[in-house]
Amino acid sequence: MTPTLVNAPAHVAIIMDGNGRWAKQRGLPRAAGHKAGTDNLRRVIEAAVELGIRILTIYAFSTENWQRPADEVNGLMSIFEEVIDRELGELHRNGVRLRHIGRLDRLSPAFADKVRAAIALTRDNTRLTLNIAFNYGGRAEIVEAVRSIVAAGLPPEQITDDTVAAHLYTAGQPDPDLIIRTSGEMRVSNFLIWQGAYSEYFITPTYWPDFDKEQLRLALEEYSRRHRRFGGL
Ligand code: IPE
Ligand code: IPE
Ligand code: MG
Repeated sequence: MTPTLVNAPAHVAIIMDGNGRWAKQRGLPRAAGHKAGTDNLRRVIEAAVELGIRILTIYAFSTENWQRPADEVNGLMSIFEEVIDRELGELHRNGVRLRHIGRLDRLSPAFADKVRAAIALTRDNTRLTLNIAFNYGGRAEIVEAVRSIVAAGLPPEQITDDTVAAHLYTAGQPDPDLIIRTSGEMRVSNFLIWQGAYSEYFITPTYWPDFDKEQLRLALEEYSRRHRRFGGL
């Protein structure tokens, strides 16, 4: 087993990007890239556990991804539904606690029910918390938080950073230490825009289906050499 790094990040978040380009490079349809990307997830989850990561957050579908052609959106929905059917038992046996960040409202009722059941089944697991950002948008998350704070009738002067954090989908969880983006894009794409205020970034040109344990280890190694200052000295 790989030894855990001294300065290992507790919470790693990944923008799993590049499935489409991975497929194109091979003359395959984009859906084949999404399938390969989803298969890769299992390997990366195992690697995360071995490398001592406690919380893994993965960006699977954004609030903006609904703008893609209906075929692709429907394909992604089926792939994810199949993943829950196929992987849930194994994830549960391996002590993975599943959480969802985002909204379930645009998902089919059957799919949304499967997500809720998976969360309920795994709620007491402690080995790894896996946050799946699905139908997730950072701005939508902040808008929802503002709405619930206003609805609770809190006096403005009592609203602090902690109040906002407590109303986000990630309430109660630490911010990501490290955010990895595959496929080389240098942007946030509406991911964890509040929580990532002081996260370290690691961007690799590798497309998501090819991102493996060795690459994750390299990202953690680079992280362990970073000097986080949080605005101080
Ligand atoms: C990431 O891969 C998966 C999702 C956004 C659902 P992409 O589908 O964005 O792949 P590229 O960026 O077009 O290569
Ligand atoms: C970000 O990737 C969303 C996910 C990985 C789920 P996109 O491919 O949607 O991001 P943009 O459009 O390149 O910014
Ligand atoms: Mg993309």
